[in-house]
Amino acid sequence: MKKIGLLTRDCAGVNAAIRAVVRTAAFHNIEVVGIFHGYEGLINGEVKLFDRRSVSGIINLGGTILKTSRSIKFRTEEGRNMALKTIKDNNLDGLIVIGGNGSLSGAYVLSEKCSIPIIGIPATIDNDVYGVDMTIGADTAVNVALDALDKIRDTSTSLERIFIVEVMGRECGYIALNVALAGGCEEVLIPEADYNIEKICEEITEGNIRGKISWIIIVAEGKAKAADIAKQVTDITSLQTREVVLGHIQRGGRPTAFDRILAARYGSFAVELMKKGEKNKYVGLNNDKLITLPLKNIVKPKDIKVNDYYKLIKILT
Ligand code: F6P
Repeated sequence: MKKIGLLTRDCAGVNAAIRAVVRTAAFHNIEVVGIFHGYEGLINGEVKLFDRRSVSGIINLGGTILKTSRSIKFRTEEGRNMALKTIKDNNLDGLIVIGGNGSLSGAYVLSEKCSIPIIGIPATIDNDVYGVDMTIGADTAVNVALDALDKIRDTSTSLERIFIVEVMGRECGYIALNVALAGGCEEVLIPEADYNIEKICEEITEGNIRGKISWIIIVAEGKAKAADIAKQVTDITSLQTREVVLGHIQRGGRPTAFDRILAARYGSFAVELMKKGEKNKYVGLNNDKLITLPLKNIVKPKDIKVNDYYKLIKILT
């Protein structure tokens, strides 16, 4: 194994993972070719050799120094063949892909067509990768959203209003559930559980009669739109609501210590696996142990366990 390629999506902690891959590879005298703009760059041959020093001073940076994109062309046969040509032209002996379900599904598709080993590293704020307790970026996203939520609480309590805060996560309620519990919110709506708007409004009205002055309801983007919930709550309770969509700020920011450490572990492990001759796997964490899963598992949905947190939110309100 002499030379490996590396491409990424973006979220906090990806740069720390790039650093871990490049420096572990350098430790084993393996060269790393950084591929810019994700699969689009693999198609177009946007590559640059990375050495130990090219990854200095990036451990604390959000985003990805490799840039990224959503490639439409990679979904076509022609695009994939061009990607394979870049792999061949650059004499790559392996490829490491850092990203969420989309990027790792792309890695799986590519692994079916090429002979070099591919190893995936799960990195997405959504924390929705099958078989993996934690993806890089999810912890930072929760903390970024929590920081915003604490600020919303200041105005919510001062103005005695109900705030409906929408967080990201696609079809997964991980960010919503964690932010709601850590932020002391009254209610959380997530894709993994049903909700009853009449019942929520009944609780708000009863609380209001008892003198409760403010509420914060977290809505996962995969479940509902904050604006729709705000309108329904106002219509039913006649109380003032405001909605906030936190959006892409959740994908940025300085990675937390947790994400940097996870990135170091995943990045190094991926290179070690490749060196050992493993192929077409993705790495993960299970009960704090590093594990590998076959890339073909990436299409399976993650089973999110919600009950404990869900119950706690209600008990602690
Ligand atoms: O998968 C990460 C994520 O940030 C989701 O939480 C969100 O739904 C989506 O990407 C947003 O995608 P885009 O950046 O293409 O708007």
